[in-house]
Amino acid sequence: MATERLISPTTRAPEEESQNWALRPRNLDEYVGQPELVERLLIAVEAVQARTRARKDGAKEHLEHVLLHGPPGLGKTTIAHVIGAELGTQVHTTSGPALARGTDLVAVLTRLQPGDVLFIDEIHRLPVAVEEFIYPAMEDFRIDVCLDTGMNARTVQINCAPFTLIGATTRAGLLSSPLRSRFGITHHLRYYDEPELGRILSRSCSLLGVSDIERGALERIASRSRGTPRIANRLLRRVRDFADVRAGGRMSGAIVDDALHLEGVDALGLDNLDRSYLSTIAAAYRGGPVGLEAVAATMNEDAGTLEDVVEPYLLQIGFLARTRRGRALTAIACGHLGVTLPG
Ligand SMILES: Nc1ncnc2c1ncn2[C@@H]1O[C@H](COP(=O)(O)OP(=O)(O)O)[C@@H](O)[C@H]1O
Ligand SMILES: [Mg+2]
Repeated sequence: MATERLISPTTRAPEEESQNWALRPRNLDEYVGQPELVERLLIAVEAVQARTRARKDGAKEHLEHVLLHGPPGLGKTTIAHVIGAELGTQVHTTSGPALARGTDLVAVLTRLQPGDVLFIDEIHRLPVAVEEFIYPAMEDFRIDVCLDTGMNARTVQINCAPFTLIGATTRAGLLSSPLRSRFGITHHLRYYDEPELGRILSRSCSLLGVSDIERGALERIASRSRGTPRIANRLLRRVRDFADVRAGGRMSGAIVDDALHLEGVDALGLDNLDRSYLSTIAAAYRGGPVGLEAVAATMNEDAGTLEDVVEPYLLQIGFLARTRRGRALTAIACGHLGVTLPG
């Protein structure tokens, strides 16, 4: 099931989250890939710092609000912390579902210092009622709180420090357009290519103290990482364990192959869940088109998980087509699965 999935780009286990922290780049220099995003941020950060220096009162200027969207594991949380580090301000972290009521947001906003970063993960899950509080906060750094009801109702304004909201989402399409329009910088993170993943892996190797690596071994991990740094680091940890136990710590191409084969990861980086998704469409729906809900029900999986975690990469590598009538397998996918569809 998805919870034990090696390839899953989402993190569930707390120990993995702490291992991820250790491997996370700390500044824009260490951040691999996404060159357009890095350049936009370098310019924006430098402009903010120049404005801060020009101020007479010594207070910190703030960066424009930033919206990051893209599949899980591509470095959205990482970039939020990197921005905070570059600005020399604190990063306060919360998420859409954690802000259940307007008062939750008020509590968070009133803790901010000028120039601080407020990172809201899964911002597409922000309740509508809270969204309305966030508009004046983003625009004028004030919150309108309604006290009492009926005859005694009145609104009081609470000011908060000028801050930068960084929102992250896997589903930009679910964001309301008034919310989306309030971000000054919007960026879609793309999948990493193999050389970029190779650079991330070799940095991780030095942080993890892995040095006995044969040529080509990291490339083999990179090519099975589905363009996703989080998966690359996770596969690296699996391969390291395997190499430690089976090969005295020596990481060779053959060890990579054996370790990942054992984990059910194929040459393209697809795992059992991907294959089960593809073969469900092939076998139960004659290759589609079929609605996502139907596939999810047949597999006894959550439709949201399939949409966030399985489909983006299959679309990216041309295995899946999304049509108006639903999902359909492509000829390349059938070739990979070794199936021929009727008709
Ligand atoms: N650009 C990058 N350079 C190096 N490592 C990265 C990069 N992006 C992500 N990572 C690694 O991948 C892991 C997952 O990234 P994360 O920011 O949590 O992804 P997201 O928030 O988009 O799901 C991080 O812990 C980090 O180790
Ligand atoms: Mg994240």
